[in-house]
Amino acid sequence: MLSFVYDMINWEEKQLIKKFRDTGIPVNLIDAKNNELNLTGKNNIDDTTFIRCLSHKRSLYYSYILESNNVNTINSFNTFNIAGNKLFTTSYLHKNKIPTPETYASFSKDNAIDTSNKMGYPLVFKPVSGSWGRMVSLIKDDNFAETIFSMNDMVNDNVYYLQKYTERPPRDIRAIIVNHELSAVTYRFSHESWKTNLSLGGNVEKADLDEDEKELLIRVGELFDPGVIGIDAMETKDGLVIHEVNSRVEFKGASKVYGDKIINDIVKFFKDLLNN
Ligand SMILES: Nc1ncnc2c1ncn2[C@@H]1O[C@H](COP(=O)(O)OP(=O)(O)O)[C@@H](O)[C@H]1O
Ligand SMILES: [Mg+2]
Repeated sequence: MLSFVYDMINWEEKQLIKKFRDTGIPVNLIDAKNNELNLTGKNNIDDTTFIRCLSHKRSLYYSYILESNNVNTINSFNTFNIAGNKLFTTSYLHKNKIPTPETYASFSKDNAIDTSNKMGYPLVFKPVSGSWGRMVSLIKDDNFAETIFSMNDMVNDNVYYLQKYTERPPRDIRAIIVNHELSAVTYRFSHESWKTNLSLGGNVEKADLDEDEKELLIRVGELFDPGVIGIDAMETKDGLVIHEVNSRVEFKGASKVYGDKIINDIVKFFKDLLNN
């Protein structure tokens, strides 16, 4: 039996549940919003668990508690913890000698403004935990920095993740890694926005990467436990830089060019896990 934890059923979840059932894998569906967990005793989940919550916090807590109950969770607590937080991810990538954009962390509004002035503009401010490009802001001068950082201050967030703007073509690379293997890799082109998130519009094509580029993406994947993750990369004149790892990867866009390959890779991964 596979347990499948969700807090919302989007395209990916719908496809996954259907495919698991169609291929004879019984699925125990658990809505994290309606299922408390016992921290000091047994839980009703004791098998391999696929966690697909939109909420990073729910994924983090679910994976920690279930791992403490000796349940194999995909992704692992460690993956959710690092990949679900851009500050930890950047630091972890750098520690492991993976090229990533120059980034600073500031812990007060005033220091964030001083740091931005030192870094120079344009720069990119991001909430450490988030997706779909939300609040990811291209800051072109100190006036705009003041506005954005005041907003961060107002919501009582005292972490300021400040990244050099990377000169790149109007596209980025999204790789989908399943069980440490490259399942799909696409270019994502931006439309209206400077950001290339598909949720902001834009289109997808198969990416044509050389062996070194593929090897880099696999090396990044191997820094995380076997699971289902996404890696976002940008093309620079000095090669690829990795700017994000996604612990709840969306693959609707990539499936438009890869068909069923991604979902088949994921289902096979779980089938093998359940058979072992
Ligand atoms: N340092 C950067 N330089 C240029 N563009 C960037 C940079 N960081 C992010 N972007 C653009 O913004 C998009 C969203 O940023 P990302 O870090 O992936 O956050 P999210 O979690 O919201 O997807 C990226 O896909 C890319 O198009
Ligand atoms: Mg991203």
